[in-house]
Amino acid sequence: MAKLYVNPGNPKSKINKEIYGNFSEHLGRCIYEGLFVGEDSPIPNTNGMRNDVVNALREMKLPVLRWPGGCFADEYHWMDGIGPKEKRKKIVNTHWGGVVEDNSFGTHEFMELCRQIGCETYINGNVGSGTVREMSEWVEYMTFSGVSPMADLRKENGHEEAYTVNYFGVGNENWGCGGNMRPEYYADEYRRYQTYVRNYYKDKKIYKIACGPNSNDYNWTDTVMKIAGNYMDGLSLHYYTVPGKDWEHKGSATQFDKAEYYTTLHKAYFMEELLHRHGAIMDRYDPKKKVGLIVDEWGTWFDVEPSTNPGFLYQQNTMRDAMVAAINLNLFNKHSDRVKMANIAQLVNVLQAVILTEGEKMLLTPTYHVFKMFRDHQDATLLDSSIATETIGMDKDLIPNLTESVSRAADGSITVTIANLSLDDTYPVETVFAEGTPECVTGTILTGAMDAHNTFDAPETVKTADFSDAKLENGAISFNIPPCSVISLKVTLK
Ligand code: AHR
Repeated sequence: MAKLYVNPGNPKSKINKEIYGNFSEHLGRCIYEGLFVGEDSPIPNTNGMRNDVVNALREMKLPVLRWPGGCFADEYHWMDGIGPKEKRKKIVNTHWGGVVEDNSFGTHEFMELCRQIGCETYINGNVGSGTVREMSEWVEYMTFSGVSPMADLRKENGHEEAYTVNYFGVGNENWGCGGNMRPEYYADEYRRYQTYVRNYYKDKKIYKIACGPNSNDYNWTDTVMKIAGNYMDGLSLHYYTVPGKDWEHKGSATQFDKAEYYTTLHKAYFMEELLHRHGAIMDRYDPKKKVGLIVDEWGTWFDVEPSTNPGFLYQQNTMRDAMVAAINLNLFNKHSDRVKMANIAQLVNVLQAVILTEGEKMLLTPTYHVFKMFRDHQDATLLDSSIATETIGMDKDLIPNLTESVSRAADGSITVTIANLSLDDTYPVETVFAEGTPECVTGTILTGAMDAHNTFDAPETVKTADFSDAKLENGAISFNIPPCSVISLKVTLK
């Protein structure tokens, strides 16, 4: 029997809704086809945005979207993407497949997409190949409501009101595709660029994010925090779960054995070490935790689907991805005192996508279902919880059998999310509350074979079902959790 202890009398940090954020880059079929099809498309759309995709994202309660990259961000010149579409520059997308980027999706279109989804905006600026002036003018263009050259230009382009920019990233991966900088150099550049990310709002503030480390580059975090920690609201972290031995052999998204399943989950758990160690460095410079750790790229990265463009990073998504999502989201909840936002890569048709499209068809991936099952954690308060786990796995790739987190929403309802990572064993779980007695419980389950996935011919192979096996017994909640499954419970206490 696995006992899950919950102490509602010990509320912890707020789980920012932005932890459930996503990322959309000009990469492959994410923006074009996946989100934006243009007003003249036969695919039903509103101002060019696919209605099916927007509706699914609203249903998932997507809270925030990052754009335009990724590596694309440090080569993006925002003025190419404004004004009459026929006059917009056609450029080469050098990072992603060398395809033509016609800039038909630019600042106004991104803002329109976020308006339709009802989510916050996270814009990533260009440090690698852009100037301070260019970045500063983009901020003025988007956010200044008075009279100025850039605000006037925005108005000429059809948008009278200033837009809301909630988050602004000052460069992306500047240790790599964003300019191959050393941390000392980037930290100084960050201080300079961010100076001109002016705050024109009277009633709100743009949250400024500095480029953080690549995975376990602790020296980057230490140096950037030391030199520039006082000038930022957030510091990013990028870590991808890559099961293969190197980037040339990442492994297939759908063809894998049990050993590779456990290797993948073991690598996903590396996120826990990263949160602890980067968090500990940040604590030294920022003990009051004013600077958020922003995990703005995470998720699985496999070999592309056979016979697709290698530069498009299109991959399928199985129950294994659902497990990776559950592990990470529970970890982010548990570290929500420091993790203030996370953005899985990427929204549609790229890497660990929540949605895949093919022409007019759309499907929801197992990862989508996990995000939807976890959505009640958004803006809830993390509760103290712990579960007795066993170690499972193969060879050196060991992991705990169960992962969980628990939160309380403003209306008092409690959300429990738990995943059984074992491929073989069902576990009985008893949830015990230190205060209060459960009076009502409802649930949802996602389960299937480790490689189960949805296709355009069979889009509902993996889907959620009501979970009615949770029973109220002796003041606790008892249920069995089947192998390779995620359960979310909604509990009210008396
Ligand atoms: O998400 C794909 C790429 O991965 C991003 O463009 C980049 O930031 C990272 O290396």
